[in-house]
Formats: sequence, structure tokens, C-alpha cells
Amino acid sequence: MATSHFASLTQDYPWISPSTPLITSAPMRLISTVPLTLAVSRAGGIGFLGGGTDVSNLSSLLHEATQFLSSSPIPNVPEKILPIGVGVIVWGASLPSTISAIQNSKLKPAAVWLFAPENSTDLVTWSTEVRKASNNLTKIWIQVGTVQSAFEAARTCNPDVLVVQGSDAGGHGLVQSSSIISFLPEVYDVLKAQGYGHIPLVAAGGIVDGRGTAAAVILGASGISMGTRFLASTEAEISNGYQNAVLHASDGGVSTKRSTVYDRLRGTTGWPSTYDGRGILNDSFFDEQNGMNEAENRRLYEEAVKKGDLGWGKDGKGARMTTYAGTGVGLIREVRRAGEIVNEVAEEAQKFLSRS
Ligand SMILES: Cc1cc2nc3c(=O)[nH]c(=O)nc-3n(C[C@H](O)[C@H](O)[C@H](O)COP(=O)(O)O)c2cc1C
Repeated sequence: MATSHFASLTQDYPWISPSTPLITSAPMRLISTVPLTLAVSRAGGIGFLGGGTDVSNLSSLLHEATQFLSSSPIPNVPEKILPIGVGVIVWGASLPSTISAIQNSKLKPAAVWLFAPENSTDLVTWSTEVRKASNNLTKIWIQVGTVQSAFEAARTCNPDVLVVQGSDAGGHGLVQSSSIISFLPEVYDVLKAQGYGHIPLVAAGGIVDGRGTAAAVILGASGISMGTRFLASTEAEISNGYQNAVLHASDGGVSTKRSTVYDRLRGTTGWPSTYDGRGILNDSFFDEQNGMNEAENRRLYEEAVKKGDLGWGKDGKGARMTTYAGTGVGLIREVRRAGEIVNEVAEEAQKFLSRS
């Protein structure tokens, strides 16, 4: 981990653990709410709220987090800063609503994580406006899935952090992508060669433990972000059926796949065609593969929604609900408190790194 990156991260986010790689929880729409994000930040990481495409409740989430912190503060947080970030899906989220939520928030979120723009100029607009609205208190994180978009974001947006998302990631990402094992060092090399080597990189996609974190650091990252691992945390806003599916899945390259079928069936429309989502495979996917027409598949999906947790099946059969998760599922065997996950992953990674 480059010393300069580490210094800039601890300066920007002084509550983070000073002696381990930065551990963050990814913004997962509807799942990463205030309890999860605060637990991650309280443990010395940075938690991101899953604002997603609908930021209509962002003001109330920021207010809720501010209230929690006033009764139970996190040490070393600068005045005026809310020690959590906010994830925004740029193609769908309202910029004016996001800006007004930031302006009206007594404490400014430590970072806004921008993902999936319709075009790259939107990233410039969002970065500029968020910085203006927060008086430069809110840092800009941009999640990228190609070397070219990493370079473009670095060139045009002056990001404070680039999140390098590989194809193993759960949830949405680029249809055409590679795993971080080759993607991350290429981004590192290109940015360095082009004069953007000062930007810290956070690796995302398939990391669920200290081994993956240490590997990411060796590949060029200063920190990591996990989504799937935190699906199995006590603070995640997630149904039991979904969480059990994550716990029971193994062999993630086979049990998960990138697809658009789940978005089509549940009506999550509007994603640019360059994106799909990785999730645990179930009957919705296999029925389509075996020729079922979309109307019938959607009807069955809607039936499954009405069944609640049973929509994720019983005794390994009859699952139809969307179960976005990454290839790391096979390494997740228990639900843990988010703070314990952060501490364990950070300490384990540091142990591996100090040996190398
Ligand atoms: C259930 C789920 C929902 C997600 N929602 C979002 C989101 O709203 N915004 C976003 O930027 N990324 C989202 N992601 C992707 C994460 O930002 C991150 O890239 C990914 O979780 C990292 O891979 P991992 O799941 O293997 O840890 C989501 C991921 C999952 C698993």
C-alpha cells in the first residue's frame, strides 16, 4: 500500500483504522441502511448507504444517521462530517434531490460513491455539484469497471478514490469485464503512467476475507469494498430467505452468473445495456434458459414475491427471487456483526501483508 495513499485516506477519514487496509461496505440499494453503514464506520471502516436510483429518502437517512451519532459518537470524526458515504446510481438518481439532501444535512456525508453513468460527462456534473453543495467536505468516489473509464474519470473528475469493480462482484456491473486479478494492476499501472498515481484505489468484486484483501493490496489497492460479505451481517436490511441463500450457496463461479433476467422479471428497468447483474442462479434463470416465455416467467416471479421468504425456495427447491451476490458466496458460512467482519478482515489482511 503506497504510503501517500494511506496518508491521504487517514487525513480525509481520520476515524479509519490507521494500521490496516481500508475496509468499506458497498452501497447496496435497500440493504445498506443506517445500522449497517454506521456499524462499519464505527469499526474503523467506511460504510456506504445504498441510495441507488431513488434518493427520495436520502434526507431522512442522513438525518437518522446524524441522530444516532449525536447520542453515540464515533471518535476522531471531524466536525461537520457524517462518517459514512452515500452510493448513487447516476443514470437513475435525481441530481437536484441528492444535492438538496446534502445541502440540508447538518453533517455532510464523508463521500458520495458514483456508479453507472449514462455517459461519462454526467460524472463531471455530479462531482462538481456534490463538491459545491458540501463546500468540498464530501469526497468523490467513482466506481469503474474498465481501464479506459478509470483513466477518463481520473482525467475529468479529479476523484478522491476510484473503486475498481471486477466481474466477480455481486449485483450490477459491466457485462464485459474482468476479475480484479488482472484489472486492478492494469488500472494501477495506467494511472501511474498518466500522472494519476496519487488517486487511492479501492478494490471490489469477490473479496470476502483477509486473504482477498491482502491480495488486492498487493495488486495495487489501498482498501477494499465488500457487498456480498455484508449481506450476511446482522445489520443488513435483508430477508431471511435471501440471507439463507447466500449462506447455502457454494462454488460461486457455478452457482452465480451475470444476467439481466432478474431485472426484467422484477421490472427494474432503465439500466444501460452495458450492465447486467450477478446473482445466485435459481428457477427464474433456468426456466428462461429452458425456453419459458418471459410473461409466464414473470407471472411465476410475481407469485414468488407473494410468498415472502419462501420465494427463495424450501429445502433447496422452488427459489425464484432475485438474489444478487458475488462469486465469493462459497466462503461465507455465517452471519456476523458488521463490526466483527470489518475487524476480522482488516486484521487477517494485515497479518498476511506483514508476512510478505
Ligand atoms: C445486493 C447488491 C446490491 C448492490 N447495489 C449496489 C448499488 O446500489 N450501488 C452500487 O454502486 N453498487 C451496488 N452493488 C455493487 C457493489 O458496489 C460492489 O461493487 C460489489 O458488491 C462488490 O462485490 P462483492 O459483492 O463480491 O463484494 C451491489 C451489490 C450487491 C451484492
